[in-house]
Parts: sequence; structure tokens; C-alpha cells
Amino acid sequence: MPEVPRSRRSCLAVPGSNPRFLEKAKSLDADQVFLDLEDAVAPIAKPDARKNIVAALNEGGWGEKIRVVRVNDWTTEWTYRDVIEVVEGAGANLDCIMLPKVQTAEQVVTLDTLLTQIEKVNGLEVGRIGIEAQIENALGLVNVDAIATASPRVETIIFGPADFMASINMKSLVVGEQPPGYDVGDAYHYILMRILMAARAYDKQAIDGPYLQIKDLEGYHRVAGRSAALGFDGKWVLHPDQVAAANEVFSPAQSDYDHAENILDAYEHYTSAAGGALGAVMLGDEMIDEASRKMALVVSAKGRSAGMQRTDVWQAPSD
Ligand code: GLV
Ligand code: MG
Repeated sequence: MPEVPRSRRSCLAVPGSNPRFLEKAKSLDADQVFLDLEDAVAPIAKPDARKNIVAALNEGGWGEKIRVVRVNDWTTEWTYRDVIEVVEGAGANLDCIMLPKVQTAEQVVTLDTLLTQIEKVNGLEVGRIGIEAQIENALGLVNVDAIATASPRVETIIFGPADFMASINMKSLVVGEQPPGYDVGDAYHYILMRILMAARAYDKQAIDGPYLQIKDLEGYHRVAGRSAALGFDGKWVLHPDQVAAANEVFSPAQSDYDHAENILDAYEHYTSAAGGALGAVMLGDEMIDEASRKMALVVSAKGRSAGMQRTDVWQAPSD
């Protein structure tokens, strides 16, 4: 797992059965692509989709994007071949395997074991390929802590709202929107928070799933804004138009980024011997202390990994 978490504001879904979409995805500004072998690919198209994905990964042209392949879940008959074909064929050009519908820690351990064997036999660095665990049903959510800690390869915990809604019998077909009849808050709040707590407790990234009304960008902003406000790191995008929206919603505002960097600089100065070895200090009209520094670190890390630049730099007083 990389030491500095990689930016995953926008995670673009690309069906592995469509070579044109695979090519197009290379030119989009998403932080991550995931090339799908699961629900976006019909059962009879899966063998060819594996080949398309291997070819697309080996051709290159993905820039700095995180390259992920979503395999089928372990309750199907496809998973082992998905993993073996993709990792043997393109393991060096792949960052993570996404495992959907994870229900138990053992399912993650099984994938870890298979990856390790393939890496050893093919001369790949053991443990480099990460795992992204999609939580898509009640059992997966109940076991989310064990899933997050089942392997050091786990990098992200992802909410899969469509399958999740089906699994709990939620009375709605519109992913991301509130079920009619529930008028006392956000019906997804518990699920999002539960995933976020596991992610934060075990140092993983928390990723929100798809918003299917691809023409409704305002709706995308609204729903993405909720998970971003809670602390999620990014969200799926299903269409090129959603990419810029996700990058914007999951980046700090420029003024917040500048403010965070200034808090860090001011705090470092004032807590040093040269700055008076103070604990709680004033930055403009605001009192900052160690807790402010921790909050600023979060915003600063998100801004830095999104490549933001400072536009307003705090200067230590000259005497
Ligand atoms: C994604 O896989 C979902 O089920 O929402
Ligand atoms: Mg799903």
C-alpha cells in the first residue's frame, strides 16, 4: 500500500466489454479508473472483456490514474479466472483489484492469497497490488471492520448503494435519492457513517458509489456533497460529465486549502523556540492549537494530493 494515500476524488467506471469506452477513459481527468468485469458486463461477454482489459492496461496511456479492475464476487464462478487472467496478463500495469459484494473477511483473505501466488509465480512484487472492498449488503456492513483489516492490501472501503438498497429491501429504485415515505432525515446516513468509521479507524479511504441519473449534474453535486461533507474521499463517476463535478466536490475550496496551510505554518512557527514555544496561539482573529493543526492536516493532505497550489501564504512576523 502506498505511504501517502492516492487521490481518489473521481473513480470512473468503464465496462470491460467496450473497447471504445476503455480507450476514451484514458483521456478523461478522473483520479481513478476501474475497468469492470462485474455488473456492467453480460455473462457471455466476460471472457472477451478480460482480454480487452488486459490489452488496455498493457497498452498504457493512463497517465497518473490509479488503474483498478473490478472482478466478479466470490459467490459466482467467474472470480478466480478474472483475477488470474488479469493479474497474469497485466499485473505490472495494475494498481488494485476491486472486490464487489464483500461479505466476510475470509473473502478478502482468499483474494489476498490468490494475488500472492500469482505475484510470486510471475515475478511481481508481492503485496503491491491493493484491494478495494465494496460493501453492498447487510452482512458486509455488519462485518466492515473485519473486512477493512483482513489484509494490508485493503486500500479503500466503497459503498455500493444500488446492490445495498436491493439487499435491505429499501423501498426505492432511485439510487442516492431518499426512499419515498422516509421523511425524517437521510436514509443512507447510518451506512455512510459506518463505512466512514471503519475507514478512518483503520486508515483506509472511504469511497461513495454511483449516482445513476447521469443527466442530472445538480443531483450529482447534491448527493456527492453529502458524502464529501461527512469526510468521504471520493465518489464513482459513470459519465465524463460527472468527472469534473467529483473532482470539485472532493477537493477543498481554495480558501480552505490556503487557510489550512497557513494554520500549519503559523502553528509550526509559534510552537518552535524561535516563535516563543507557545501552545495555543492566534492566527488573525482565530485561536489555533494542536487540534486545529490536526484538522488543517486533513485539508492540506487532500489539497496536496489533488495538486492544489497556495494562493495566500502566511508570513511569520519579522520580530
Ligand atoms: C455498485 O456496484 C452498486 O451496487 O451501487
Ligand atoms: Mg453493485
